[in-house]
Amino acid sequence: MIGAFDSGHGGLTILRALTARLPDRDFLYFGDHAHAPYGERTSPEIVALTRDAVTLLFDRGCKLVVLACNTAAAVALRTLQQDWLPAYAPDRRILGVLVPTVEAVTGVPWLADATTTRAHTIALFATRRTVASCAYPDEIKKRAPGIRLVQHACVGLATLIEQGATRDELREAVQGHVRELMAELGGRAPDAVMLGCTHYPLVADLFAEALPPGIEIVSQPDIVARSMTEYLARHPQIDTPGRGDIQFLTSGDPASAGHFATTFFGRAATFTRIAG
Ligand code: DGL
Repeated sequence: MIGAFDSGHGGLTILRALTARLPDRDFLYFGDHAHAPYGERTSPEIVALTRDAVTLLFDRGCKLVVLACNTAAAVALRTLQQDWLPAYAPDRRILGVLVPTVEAVTGVPWLADATTTRAHTIALFATRRTVASCAYPDEIKKRAPGIRLVQHACVGLATLIEQGATRDELREAVQGHVRELMAELGGRAPDAVMLGCTHYPLVADLFAEALPPGIEIVSQPDIVARSMTEYLARHPQIDTPGRGDIQFLTSGDPASAGHFATTFFGRAATFTRIAG
């Protein structure tokens, strides 16, 4: 069984792409709705919550857990992989959504080629904590120093999406964030845009509408699903064929989590509340 985890509904956008690519694997999803949003929490809180979530998924039989949350991946992944996993569960694996996304973006020759005459600019929209962690700029710099990354924290956007704000409310919020980014860039359009929060694919169309025309918006769910499929092929010892079962857990209200699942996951999902 493969575990997938997010602070709330956002990871369902990743799970949707994963199950489409790996239809015969079993998945266990955990939304930590009781503690969302993570993007406004401190780093120690995010590390502790992420460790608890991964423990819960390991204890229920997952050999691999995907942090389907950029904030958790940016803040907690490295610490957990290096300082916790080797002693706690050396035979299990934790992966995030950030590195596959960076690998995909820096693998695009026209974006990554440092020898071209001008620096290509990528804009990153993410939560406050993901931006503060500098995980995206650090990972991009290692692979493609020619890329200029401009980060913009969309404070409150994940919460609006999580709480089911109307399209008009979301449109207004997205337009505001794009306006701020464009002002930061002096009105010059970026070459590509990354939506570095797993809630944002739900408003990708609103970003496209607010941005100048023709800008590529990188699709994180597809990238992550492709990368995980390749990872499993390289690591057969942690892969287990299943029957396509998908189970959903939440630390919050199962009825509300199930209500949003159709939008985020594309089909109905029945959530079970975890004890405690
Ligand atoms: N979906 C999460 C992410 O990808 C964050 C949302 C939150 O702030 O909890 O960053």
